[in-house]
Amino acid sequence: MGIATAQAAANIAFIKYWGAKDLDRVIPSNRSISMTLSACTTRTTVETLAHGAADRILARDSAGRLAQAPESFSARILAHLDRVRALAGVAVGLRVATENRFPAAAGLASSASGFAALSLAATAALGIELEATALSDFSRRSGSGSAARSALGGYVEWPLGFDEGQGHATVIAPAEHWDLCDLIAIVDAGEKAVSSLEGHRRACSSPHFSARQVEVQRRIDVVRSSIARRDLATLGPVIEEEAIELHLIAMSSRPPIFYWRPSTLDVLEAIRALRGRGIGAWSTLDAGPNVHVICEPADALAVNEALAALPGVTEVIRDRVGTGPRLIDEPVI
Ligand code: DP6
Repeated sequence: MGIATAQAAANIAFIKYWGAKDLDRVIPSNRSISMTLSACTTRTTVETLAHGAADRILARDSAGRLAQAPESFSARILAHLDRVRALAGVAVGLRVATENRFPAAAGLASSASGFAALSLAATAALGIELEATALSDFSRRSGSGSAARSALGGYVEWPLGFDEGQGHATVIAPAEHWDLCDLIAIVDAGEKAVSSLEGHRRACSSPHFSARQVEVQRRIDVVRSSIARRDLATLGPVIEEEAIELHLIAMSSRPPIFYWRPSTLDVLEAIRALRGRGIGAWSTLDAGPNVHVICEPADALAVNEALAALPGVTEVIRDRVGTGPRLIDEPVI
């Protein structure tokens, strides 16, 4: 019936999704706000096969070959293909070929860009055109809540979405509104031992979880208004405290989860030292050891140099705000 290729980028959350009201329906415990990136992308091609044919999932491996993806990787993709078929009302098989285009080092393999790209490519291959918010809701249904945000560009808020059709994120400011940089200090490119899914499950076992739920309401307002005013001096401290608190909750969950490596602390300290020298840079982290440093373009060079000088940092990825997923004409082959 068709073939389509989509590209979508990862996002970095300023207010985090960590803990769910209903993990199966992907209803988060709190609203989250993120910035969609532009360099850390996933590119995915979906092609229709014959009626009833078995799906095929191919992924670019570390040697650069497109190979049959392992079952652990394919299971969530196959489940999402069933949702796409149900939406289109067809029973054709689908062939998926996907690759992460994260500059050099891995360790950032977010399912957000992956499921946003898959949702866009698969619906397009079946001739369905989803509005941006419908694509966001559909991406969320993959189980990756952050994919709801990667389905949109710029600065994005994902609300609680209790009601049917309300699970999508919305753009609170387009990418052109504020050119912010994200310099990602890689301290460990390996796969994390505990998935975000398991982290969400354990989050409410932390005694700090309920305290954050109160705090997060105030932070949401500060993040929204400082994005509107392009005010990094107000935004920065809030995103840093938000990230530290996510890890505090992870570390105090039962059983605890430690995502940090010793070099994570070195990066956090180096960024604090930079601020002491008058450079406006603030750290945030996802559920992993690598540190995202948010700054204005004018400070990116100084931040890059400071990060690259740290012995525990193996690579610095230079990224910035991006415009969201799009269909492209370069299939993954
Ligand atoms: C720490 O359930 O969306 O990044 O599907 O693995 O990307 P993945 O995780 P998801 O949880 C995201 C957790 C987070 C915070 C955030 O991005 O909001």
